[in-house]
Amino acid sequence: YAEDGHEGWLRYAHIDDPVVLRQYDGLPHRVLSLGTTPVAQAASTELVRGMESMLGSRLVAVQTLPQEDAFVLGTQTEVCHFLRNVCRQKALSGDAFAVVRVMQKGHVYWVIFGDEERGELYGVFHVLEQFASQKPIADASEAPAASVRWVNQWDNFDGSIERGYAGRSIFFDGGHVRADLSRVSEYGRLLASVGLNGCTVNNVNSDLRTLDPAMLRELARIADQLRPWGVRMSLSVDLSSPQIVDHLATFDPLDPAVVAWWQKTADEVYRLIPDFGGFVIKADSEGRLGPSKYGRTPAEAANVVARALRPHGGVVLYRGFVYNNHLDWHDLKADRARAGYDNFHALDGRFEPNVIIQIKHGPIDFQVREPLSPLFAALQHTSQAIELQVTQEYTGQQRHMVFLVPMWKAALDTDLRAQNRSTPVKEIVEGRSFHQPLGGFAGVVNVGLDTNWMHHPMAMSNLYGFGKLAWNPDLTSDEILDSWTRLTWGNNPKVVSTIDDLQRGSWHAYEEYSGPLGLGTLTNIIGIHYGPGIESAERNGWGQWLRADNKGIGIDRTVATGTGYIGQYPPELAKVYESLTTCPDELLLFMHHVPYNYVLHNGKTVVQHVYDSHYKGAATVATYAPRWEQLQGLIDEERYEKTLKLFMYQAGHAIVWRDAVSEWFLRMSGIADTRGRVGHY
Ligand code: GCU
Repeated sequence: YAEDGHEGWLRYAHIDDPVVLRQYDGLPHRVLSLGTTPVAQAASTELVRGMESMLGSRLVAVQTLPQEDAFVLGTQTEVCHFLRNVCRQKALSGDAFAVVRVMQKGHVYWVIFGDEERGELYGVFHVLEQFASQKPIADASEAPAASVRWVNQWDNFDGSIERGYAGRSIFFDGGHVRADLSRVSEYGRLLASVGLNGCTVNNVNSDLRTLDPAMLRELARIADQLRPWGVRMSLSVDLSSPQIVDHLATFDPLDPAVVAWWQKTADEVYRLIPDFGGFVIKADSEGRLGPSKYGRTPAEAANVVARALRPHGGVVLYRGFVYNNHLDWHDLKADRARAGYDNFHALDGRFEPNVIIQIKHGPIDFQVREPLSPLFAALQHTSQAIELQVTQEYTGQQRHMVFLVPMWKAALDTDLRAQNRSTPVKEIVEGRSFHQPLGGFAGVVNVGLDTNWMHHPMAMSNLYGFGKLAWNPDLTSDEILDSWTRLTWGNNPKVVSTIDDLQRGSWHAYEEYSGPLGLGTLTNIIGIHYGPGIESAERNGWGQWLRADNKGIGIDRTVATGTGYIGQYPPELAKVYESLTTCPDELLLFMHHVPYNYVLHNGKTVVQHVYDSHYKGAATVATYAPRWEQLQGLIDEERYEKTLKLFMYQAGHAIVWRDAVSEWFLRMSGIADTRGRVGHY
């Protein structure tokens, strides 16, 4: 039995402590599952499996309400036939669930129900998570923050994965859907356990054959695997598909033949996959074709596709990641960060109701620190989803431990103050701030066939955390971390506190030894996005510039003298960023160009801060392995050894980062480290 296996956080480790076990003594030994759909079956099977594994108690399935204590699973309507009390409960809607203890004729029934079966499944996972974290079972009722809670996988049909760091695709191989899809079902189970309800299975840089009828028939097999877990499959599609798949003369979205083609194709998709989620579209970006070819707008393109999906209940997630990667780097007004807002804000209100604009949290591209995209505040009549990156493309590629939930929390909690009122990003994407019909969360995950899905044993905390935040963005980062640790590593207090402590500060440490002050990761931008490659950002069309010379560094994005990007924010926030006096240090070089000896709010010069933070970050990482060694014998050998090796590697690579960046700043600025460390190896 591989300790570091496919089960991720769903380990269901047996509870050995008799005192803890005793709190579950009175639980029923019967389960009545009223639904017959695959989701309802998955819910009852999961409850049986979890209780047996954790509590050693074997639930017996019964066909009718027993005259003894029982678990009862069903939709609210189904359950209410048998247990009148449940009819009196507040009506649930969408994916919400409730767990209630009902007394009837002297028997105790633990009822787990949803408005639909999906809620019932979420209720079961909730109860099992209580057991796994050794908490008592209690009445509960929860509803998700938003309807779209999707993961995106950037998998290619040949089995490779764009920005995937844990082996080959669980979906595809050699141009086809894999014969063995057992990992897909296991993935669906993990997603469902944290309330995720959609999975886009192919790369946003979509294979042009995706909508070919033969491929669709293959893809339907993936949807079959995800269905029992309430996870709707969706696809990334290329807007040139009508031309590629059926050789139409054009893919102009307003051409009647193209409109008809999308309708015919959507009908076919739903014939094969009745619960299909929708299409994700990347267009006019990084070499993908798009409506600009015909002088059409993103709204015109998105709407044609959306109208085709609408009768079937599907949605379009049109990506806000539209920018020109051939910028003129000599032009001091050119600014990639402006692109999202510039391309979309004038289209606000012009989208069909089943279109959602999927926006990366920052205006550039998943750097270690970015401000929030101003587009979130600019779209007030359009549904929006936030795109977060679980796969650690720019944050250590799952060779470095970087717990990203604190970063996402900071993003979701950022109050953009649109209309001079409170509009935190989480409320915008929930659809609450501007009363939009839809909204949600898209996480780029890119799990692979590696036994533990993501390579680093700590990295799954990011997938777990993404799901938890998509369900409830008000949870704290510490709450999420602590429950993931308990489920994944057990409840030993020393284990829990050590792992929580290690992970908690890991994003900050990574930022310190890679790219502080809002500069981005200073990573190799052109190539693999791994390791230091400072100059690679400069003097090319990709626009992730540092604008560094021997006098200063940073991009002037002010309205007064710079690219004007700051003016895309609502006035209160724009004012904070525009002024050097109020701009937070952590975003200084994102917003301003300053000399190396500019003094930060923390009293240090820019260059000294860069030196100090790199030494500090690398020193923190050097403590990971010795702290981890305190856990030897308390966790299984396999994960212990694997994690230890990764921590040792990370400590070394953090030194590489530290020295490369510090040395570069020394040469560029000519200003020595006051503590004499840099340049003296
Ligand atoms: C990044 C990433 C690409 C990806 C793109 C996107 O630029 O490096 O691999 O295709 O984002 O999100 O579309």
